[in-house]
Amino acid sequence: MVSASHVLDRVLVLEMVRVTEAAAIAASKWIGRGDNDAADAAAVEAMRHALNELPMDGTVVIGEGERDEAPMLYIGEKVGSAQGDGPAIDIALDPLEGTTLTANAGPNALAVLAIAEQGCLLNAPDVYMEKIAIGPGCPAGTISLAKSVTENVRALAAAKNVAPNEIVACVLDRPRHQAIIDELRALGCGIKLIPDGDVAGVIATTDPDTGIDIYLGTGGAPEGVLAAAALRCVGGQMEGRLLFRNDDERGRAHRWGIDDLDRIYSMEDMAKGDCIFAASGVTDGSLLSGVKRTKGGSITTESIVMRASTGTVRRVSTEYHKPL
Ligand code: FBP
Repeated sequence: MVSASHVLDRVLVLEMVRVTEAAAIAASKWIGRGDNDAADAAAVEAMRHALNELPMDGTVVIGEGERDEAPMLYIGEKVGSAQGDGPAIDIALDPLEGTTLTANAGPNALAVLAIAEQGCLLNAPDVYMEKIAIGPGCPAGTISLAKSVTENVRALAAAKNVAPNEIVACVLDRPRHQAIIDELRALGCGIKLIPDGDVAGVIATTDPDTGIDIYLGTGGAPEGVLAAAALRCVGGQMEGRLLFRNDDERGRAHRWGIDDLDRIYSMEDMAKGDCIFAASGVTDGSLLSGVKRTKGGSITTESIVMRASTGTVRRVSTEYHKPL
C-alpha cells in the first residue's frame, strides 16, 4: 500500500484543486438565482464525481451530514477510485460554503476541501462551534477562548504593538453575537460584519490586505475544522469549542466519541499532522475571485491550495475552453 504522506506530496496536492474547481463551476450556475438547495446540490454532485476520480481510499469525515440526512458526501461515505489499496485519506469538505451567498450573489462563497492522513481531522458533529482566530506572527497563546473578548483584543493589540481601538474584528452578523459586538464597540475596535461564510472570515485574518486582525464568534463546527486546516497551512492561531443546544446534539457528540463537551480544541486538535487545504472561489471575495464565464463559453476559476508540512501556498488560475 502507498503511504498516505507520499501521495499527499506527489499526487493529491494539485488534484484537490480539480475537485474544488468542479464544485465551484457547478455552483456558479446558480449564482443570484435565489435557490440555495439547487446551488448546494450542484456543488455536492460535482465534488463527489471529482473525488471519485482520484486514486485514493478516501473517507468523508466532515461532509453534508449523517447518512440518514445526506444522500451524497455523507459522513463515513467512501470516495476515491482506489478503495482498499490506495492511501487511506480522511476528507473534510464543504462543496458550497455560503449557499445563501451564492443564491444572493453575495461575496466570499467558496468550494472547500481539506484532506489529511487517517485520524488527523477532528470528526466534529454538525453543531455550532465557538471560534477565535488570528493570523501568523504573534506569540503562541496570544488568544484563547478561555479569555474574554476584551482580554483577547488587549493581548492581540499588545502583540501587534497597536492600541486596542486599532484592532479590526470579523464577526458573523447574527443576533447571538450582540454581546461580542458590544464588547468590541466598548473597546473602540473596528468590526467587519459578514452575512455568511466564516471559513473565509477566519482565513481573512491571515491576509494583511483584508485589514482583519481577529475572527470571533459562533458558526458551524464543520466549517471550524476546515478553517483550522487552512490556518495550519498558512500560519496563525485558532481555538474552537463545540456548542450544544439540546440533548439531541449532545447525543450526537457522544456518538462521535466526544465526552468532554466543554473542551477547548486547539488548531492542532482540529487538524493535525500533514494536511492539505484547497478552495475555489464561487463568487468574488477577499480570498479568491469567483467563477467567470465569457460570452465565447470559456470559464475561469481561481483557487488556492496549501499544505501544512511545507507551508506551500499555491494560487491556481484555470481556464476551461471546452463546455462543462
Ligand atoms: P452554509 O453554506 O452551509 O449555508 O453555511 C454558511 C455559514 O455562514 C457558515 O460559514 C457558518 O459557519 C454558518 O453558516 C453559520 O451558521 P448560521 O447561519 O446558522 O448562523
